[in-house]
Amino acid sequence: MKILGIETSCDETSAAVVEETGDAAKPWAIQSNVIASQVPIHREWGGVVPELASRQHIRDICGVVERALLDANATWTDVGAIAVTQGPGLVGSLLVGVAFAKAAAAAAGLPLVAVHHLAGHIESLVLQNGEMPLPAVVLVVSGGHTSLYLVEHAGEYQLLSRTRDDAAGEAYDKVAKLLGLGYPGGPVIDRLARTGNDRAIQLPTMRLTHADRNAPELKGDLDFSFSGLKTAVLRHVRSRGSLSESEVADVCATFQRLVVTSLIERLFDAARRHQAKSVGIAGGVSANSRLRAELRDRGLRREIPTFLPSLQLSTDNAAMIAAAGLRKYRAGHTAAFDLNADAALPLG
Ligand code: KG4
Ligand code: ZN
Repeated sequence: MKILGIETSCDETSAAVVEETGDAAKPWAIQSNVIASQVPIHREWGGVVPELASRQHIRDICGVVERALLDANATWTDVGAIAVTQGPGLVGSLLVGVAFAKAAAAAAGLPLVAVHHLAGHIESLVLQNGEMPLPAVVLVVSGGHTSLYLVEHAGEYQLLSRTRDDAAGEAYDKVAKLLGLGYPGGPVIDRLARTGNDRAIQLPTMRLTHADRNAPELKGDLDFSFSGLKTAVLRHVRSRGSLSESEVADVCATFQRLVVTSLIERLFDAARRHQAKSVGIAGGVSANSRLRAELRDRGLRREIPTFLPSLQLSTDNAAMIAAAGLRKYRAGHTAAFDLNADAALPLG
């Protein structure tokens, strides 16, 4: 079966066709994955402007879906179901995808599958590499999320911890902004960090030891926190006045070392605690070169298989939503036509 995936949760309008392979070890193959990025529109404002995002999704959605079918050499009659991101994300953006998917499913007489955006990021690992040995611990790290999930059974995601304040990608974007490096911050800090000294300046490390009063069911010591680090960078920059190019690179390198260390430490702590047979990192920040390298190194040292998406599957895309949709559809879950977008949809 082929499934059409649709993703509009933030600032990328994306549609993809993903096909089942019949191979249980590597269950899905990408037929097409079209992404219309709005980055040039939002760059001007230094971040995503929800109203502009929503309007641009409306302009792009029809063409993006048509293109995804064309690239896959498919028509509506070749598609067996439609999967769409229900949430979390920007509600005005999500609504465009959900409304389009419902209308298309009704018109073509196809089943509709509602997908959680983070389930999509987690399944991007399986789409890229094949099934992960379970139990697996997966870090989902993007502009909106930094969360650890335990996957004991395929398609079931148990939340272990998350950030208490900023997401890691958000911290990259804010630090880039205060260094005057533009939006999005992740790729440019990643590039500059390679030329800097990652021990040049003193910035605080973050380790939470106390439980979160807002989520007493979670132990809390695997939680993340990045806003203190961001504030420390701000103080450093203010105290120095203007920074030379090499000083900016040093700030980027030190910031990146601390973020990556905190992500990798918690991920492998969780893997040990839950006797994981594999670990993975997904989401926009998984494109980070240092994070990718440290994941592989640590995995080799701990003799545990590590999983990453390709760079194209790291950031938001509809192929991962189609993959998670196939998983859900095969488990017997479809959505009714009164499906609504949910900006704060929980997972696990
Ligand atoms: O998954 P994604 O496309 O959208 C969300 O769901 O948030 O992630 C976008 C985030 C942005 O914050 C961006 O700065 C970050 O991923 N990012 C990176 C890199 N490439 C993108 N962060 C660090 N290093 C990178 N190379
Ligand atoms: Zn995302």
